Amino acid sequence: MIRSFLFVPGDSEKKLAKAESAGADALILDLEDAVAPERKPAARELVAAYLWSSPRDARRTQLWVRINPLDGGAAHADLEAVVAASPDGVMLPKANGPQDVAALSAQLDAMRADDVRILPVATETPIAPFKLGEYADARLARLYGLTWGAEDLSAALGASTNRDPTTGEWAFTYRMVRSLTLLAAHAAGVAAVETLYADYKDEAGLRAASRTARAEGFSGRLAIHPAQVGAINESFTPSVDEVEHARRVVAAFAAAPSVGTIGLDGKMLDMPHLKQAQRTLALAQAHQERAS
Ligand code: COA
Ligand code: MG
Repeated sequence: MIRSFLFVPGDSEKKLAKAESAGADALILDLEDAVAPERKPAARELVAAYLWSSPRDARRTQLWVRINPLDGGAAHADLEAVVAASPDGVMLPKANGPQDVAALSAQLDAMRADDVRILPVATETPIAPFKLGEYADARLARLYGLTWGAEDLSAALGASTNRDPTTGEWAFTYRMVRSLTLLAAHAAGVAAVETLYADYKDEAGLRAASRTARAEGFSGRLAIHPAQVGAINESFTPSVDEVEHARRVVAAFAAAPSVGTIGLDGKMLDMPHLKQAQRTLALAQAHQERAS
């Protein structure tokens, strides 16, 4: 399970060189909006060279590539440039729905890129949120998860803001698509990936928002700056107290094999609590294995 995906502009030699030491679980080498149109050919070359220099079996950090949207010729050029160098995954921006992921998947099939996963940004066009529920039945073997974005959606709506003017929180439309993304990811049995936190100097705010996101069922989030990675990794790793509590819940159910509901510390626990505890332990173990 990937906790942190750090975006790195694909045309920046300096940032590419710095990125790996940030400690992210995955980098997203960007060929889309962080790269000016005239810089795209240079970015493709740099990203391909970066991938070749880090053979897939030897990688400690997953390397993903954000390609350009499928409508337009750039995406094809992106894939031609990078797929042979074995990225772990491809992020697909401005996906209109599972049919776009299926189309990308078919292109990867044709290129014999068998192990490449796909993470669509699933809310960036006005039609996309209406298709979120369809990921569940789309049988997309490459689908890693679903993530969402607010900036391109608000641009597509001609909106001058995506924030609530009184609270500063996401405005209703963006909270709605965020929740739909969370539900759709779980319906499809894949990871729910929280969007980026733009204010990269506000570590306390990032931590609070990331903990909330994990408590709601997101398993990781996008990052834009190396300084965000530590807070994100910590927020999406179960704490010592959570792991201890989960152990006690699992043990309590194990001690009462044919009982559906038990009491622990004066609280009622039933099957959803057991499932949640098992999930916490599995996550903690996965992150521990990664660290060792
Ligand atoms: N990946 C790798 N290195 C990064 C980085 C990133 N995403 N963001 C910053 N750095 C490096 C900088 O190059 C700088 O290196 P230096 O100390 O050797 O000079 C160092 O980290 C500190 O950066 P800082 O000066 O705080 O930020 P900045 O003004 O250079 O850059 C951004 C700010 C937002 C432009 C930059 O963080 C960035 O490019 N983020 C990714 C943007 C992106 O890919 N967006 C697409 C998805 S929305
Ligand atoms: Mg964008």
